[in-house]
Amino acid sequence: MDGKIVTAVGTPNKALIMYWGNRNTQLNLPFNSSLSITLGGDLQAKTSVVFSKSFKEDVIYFNGERIVLNGKAEGKMAALKLVLDQMRKMAGTTSKVLVVSKNSFPTGTGMASSAAGAVAFVYAASEALGLSLDTAQKSILARNISGSACRSLDGGFVMWHKGSNPDGSDSYAEQVADHRHWSEIIDMIAIVSEKQKKVSSTEGHKRTSSTSVLFKARVPYADAAVQAIRESILQKDFDSLAEITMQDSNNLQATMLDSWPPIVYLNSTSHEIIEAIHELNEREGRYVAAYTFDAGPNAHIITRTRDKAKVKEALSGINGIKQLIEVPQGDGPKILDESESLIDPETLKPVA
Ligand code: DP6
Repeated sequence: MDGKIVTAVGTPNKALIMYWGNRNTQLNLPFNSSLSITLGGDLQAKTSVVFSKSFKEDVIYFNGERIVLNGKAEGKMAALKLVLDQMRKMAGTTSKVLVVSKNSFPTGTGMASSAAGAVAFVYAASEALGLSLDTAQKSILARNISGSACRSLDGGFVMWHKGSNPDGSDSYAEQVADHRHWSEIIDMIAIVSEKQKKVSSTEGHKRTSSTSVLFKARVPYADAAVQAIRESILQKDFDSLAEITMQDSNNLQATMLDSWPPIVYLNSTSHEIIEAIHELNEREGRYVAAYTFDAGPNAHIITRTRDKAKVKEALSGINGIKQLIEVPQGDGPKILDESESLIDPETLKPVA
């Protein structure tokens, strides 16, 4: 185990029924279950990990920036440190770690990569420590770093069971159908802003669940929507998938606006996109596409490959769209070959 370099790759996911609000903030235990599509293509985070008795401290190189994981680590890095300690305990070692992580997200798109990074880290670290963990166990570890990351542990369509145990042992992700089941489904991401979000998801989860009156109605609604959309996926029923997806997006944005102080992630271009998709669906007399937004103004347009030209055409007149990226479904995290390592095996330092 000591000195074994393991490299893994992880990808992000886009929720169709979203996670927003925690019943336990420390463990990222959500109020409602959620369901997502694992994304593939070029959106990848690659992470190499090595544990060694020769290291004096835990260090992570994150897109070239050197961060020491000590008591001063904050936010996601502090959460990562806790997961690291937990994994070391499971493996019965005290060796320090070197983590080198890079993502190949299109630059300047402002797209979040934390789920992809968290999942690649958990995948590589559990292998490097010789832990034989199943997907559910790994998804619990990833969840502790970033809630939505737990859904990136598998490919295709993935559901995160909210669970009910106070220790989170039954709050994990499970595959509904793999990426081959309905491979025609793609995500066309319309990049409208490159800026970092004004309110972090972590702050947003707290603010909405503690101040929004509408949020109380959202929780049972979202749980029912997860069950309904699961059926749409299994039946390959695009009409219901599209309708449920757009309704969940609007429902979530409504609870954000109902938070105090209000949280507004969408901008005028996002609203133009919403209108263009409704017009397209109306013109065609069927559901061609569905929009869904996260904690930001970039639109995810869920459609089928047969209709992508129609979507492009419908969005072509919107000046605020900076880039349209076509993303297929991903098949989940992978361990990569030694030749892909970001750590030099001779020096145990990041490769130049
Ligand atoms: C809107 O997983 O980013 O994307 O647990 O604080 O890391 P933390 O939050 P995060 O929240 C994701 C919110 C969302 C919806 C979703 O992905 O389900």
